[in-house]
Amino acid sequence: MGSAVVVQSSAPAAAAETTLRAAAAKAGLFFGVAASPNRLYPIVGQEFSQLTPENDMKPDRIATSSGGLQNTSGADTLVNHAQSNNMLVRGHTLVWHSQAGALQGASQATLNTFIGNAINRWGSRIAYWDVVNEALEDNNTGRRRNQWPHTMNRDANGDGDFFDAGDTDVIRDSFIRAKQVVQAGGLTTKLCINDYDVDGLTVQGGTPNRKANALYDIVRNYRQYIDCVGFQAHFNDNPNSIITDDLQANIQRFADLGVEVHITELDIDDDLSNNDIGAGQAENYRKVVRACLNVAQCTGITVWGISDSESWRSSERGLLFTGGNGSYQKKAAYHAVLDELNKGRNPTTPPTTPPVTPSVPPTTPPATGCSATVSLNSWTGGFVATVRVTAGTAPISGWSVQLTLPSGATVTNAWNANRSGSSGTVQFSNVSYNGSVNAGQSTEFGFQGVGTATGLTPVCSAA
Ligand code: XIL
Repeated sequence: MGSAVVVQSSAPAAAAETTLRAAAAKAGLFFGVAASPNRLYPIVGQEFSQLTPENDMKPDRIATSSGGLQNTSGADTLVNHAQSNNMLVRGHTLVWHSQAGALQGASQATLNTFIGNAINRWGSRIAYWDVVNEALEDNNTGRRRNQWPHTMNRDANGDGDFFDAGDTDVIRDSFIRAKQVVQAGGLTTKLCINDYDVDGLTVQGGTPNRKANALYDIVRNYRQYIDCVGFQAHFNDNPNSIITDDLQANIQRFADLGVEVHITELDIDDDLSNNDIGAGQAENYRKVVRACLNVAQCTGITVWGISDSESWRSSERGLLFTGGNGSYQKKAAYHAVLDELNKGRNPTTPPTTPPVTPSVPPTTPPATGCSATVSLNSWTGGFVATVRVTAGTAPISGWSVQLTLPSGATVTNAWNANRSGSSGTVQFSNVSYNGSVNAGQSTEFGFQGVGTATGLTPVCSAA
């Protein structure tokens, strides 16, 4: 690294932001914290732009056995505090095997009642709800948990899946209910699935992360109801809880399904000794933040508490501050996170080695202008397309891509591109940060839609 030449841009460097929330906002994501009503010190609104109730919105706190609400004052306090400090709220959590309280053992009908009551109570004041939390089993089996609410899964014809008419699936059915409530109320709330040990493509020793793969399959299958995926990211010495260097690739593959990805409950054991990619805690924090920043659809990071001593795992000293009771001191990990956020989504330091030439060159290399290829991820009733725009032998300063969708297919949203039209011939063009592409280099955008999109032939024009 020592010999890397840092290219100075002619514009003066923007002043670094001095709080996590400001630095994150500049990079286009939120930086949040788990909180409780007795810990709403000024630092909460100063450093953080999103709040997750650490315990006050869990069923054991707010649900009655018939799916009604009770004891919502703590949750109300947190939502009000967030609102007056201009923070987003993540509702946590509707369907969970743990801290289920009076809902333990409840039927899907009762869960559905609770889902409706809880979502409607706070409406769009909740930006994201964890609809289903921790549905998958420990120890990298890739199976669903053999623990209530799995009892609401029913494989009616015994073919080994939950997809047939007559089958029930607590994950799907809870999301369907939540989506109905959101749509009926015209709410902006996004619906998330959240889990732990799903962070990397692999776990210790390079073993495939089957739990992450199982989550991926769930999101792909039920994509029409699921808006976002949370990686809890409680990193510790468990071999399935480590930080691997394929964290970013795993975030990316979920993002490619068209969902937002969040790091939802981040803490990092300060003696994490058997991880693949990091030495000290600060360095590990930096890596997690960078992995998120490098994926445009990774739209938020939340740490699970303010200070080590007030953490649910205080012995791991896994957070960004020491101290307590409103008086906190920043750790090295804090400074590393702030610094990484301040670098923004696009790293400013050029790679130390020249980019590797792709091993499979395009069959007909474009002379000048640009070319585009599309890769498609489809499921029954929907699809996500990722389009790669490659500049020809000369740099380009803007691009547009035209695609004709088969009849019945409609684009519902796009990222990293402006869009005009949603069916038939649809036009995409660069946004401010991805119009300039050097000769032979590429950039990507994506879009999501309903219906079937086959035989897409993108036509690229350069500006
Ligand atoms: C933890 C809280 O931090 C503790 O205070 C509580 O005693 C138990 O739950 N995954 C989750 C969180 O989704 O809700 C958990 O929070 C931590 C693990």
